[in-house]
Amino acid sequence: MAKIMTTQEKQAELDKIAREIKEFKGLDIAKNCTLAVPGEGNPEAQIMFIGEAPGFNEDKEGRPFVGQAGKLLEKTLKDVLNLGRFDVYITNIVKFRPPDNRDPLPDEIEACRDWLDRQINIIHPKIIATLGRFSMAKFIPDVSISRIHGQARYVDFNENKIIIFPMYHPAAALRAGAVMNEFIQDFNKLKTLLGNNQPDIPVAKPEPAKITQTSLF
Ligand code: URA
Repeated sequence: MAKIMTTQEKQAELDKIAREIKEFKGLDIAKNCTLAVPGEGNPEAQIMFIGEAPGFNEDKEGRPFVGQAGKLLEKTLKDVLNLGRFDVYITNIVKFRPPDNRDPLPDEIEACRDWLDRQINIIHPKIIATLGRFSMAKFIPDVSISRIHGQARYVDFNENKIIIFPMYHPAAALRAGAVMNEFIQDFNKLKTLLGNNQPDIPVAKPEPAKITQTSLF
């Protein structure tokens, strides 16, 4: 059974992971980035947001979601859930900026996997909201985000069932008004989910892959 950790113990473990990430030089993107971006937020967060990879601004500051997409995430968090960014935990699938914001490569996702898994185990959130298709695919592979966004489901993760709530990436919402509407609606569903102690939601089943997928959709 998982050990029950105090907030201080959780923070100490998260700090240890952050140090490991900052010292890591095993990928080109780790060697070439300005700053690694381990993640940040409340070790007791009920919601964890997982994005794709740091962009230009995140790479400069060493913090996740601090550019335009981050501003949208922060504003929607406040407007809909009345939460600040340090009430939740925010991180990415990949902890170093890929050049020119290209998609993360499978070996980069794999190299960062253990850190993310440990962050999830330490925080033990009630809900993981995935932002975009790369973080969704970690828990629910081979599906199209346009089909399943806003639909919570239980997924087995390290012998625990956690609620995965797939969402569009905020950068996609900034590019298209229709996606923005869905993004806000999904945040409202997240609010309902957060307030419900026994949500009636399905266990994930493999679904057929869609053939066409656009970046971030
Ligand atoms: N996009 C992401 O996926 N993550 C960030 O941290 C910033 C932008």
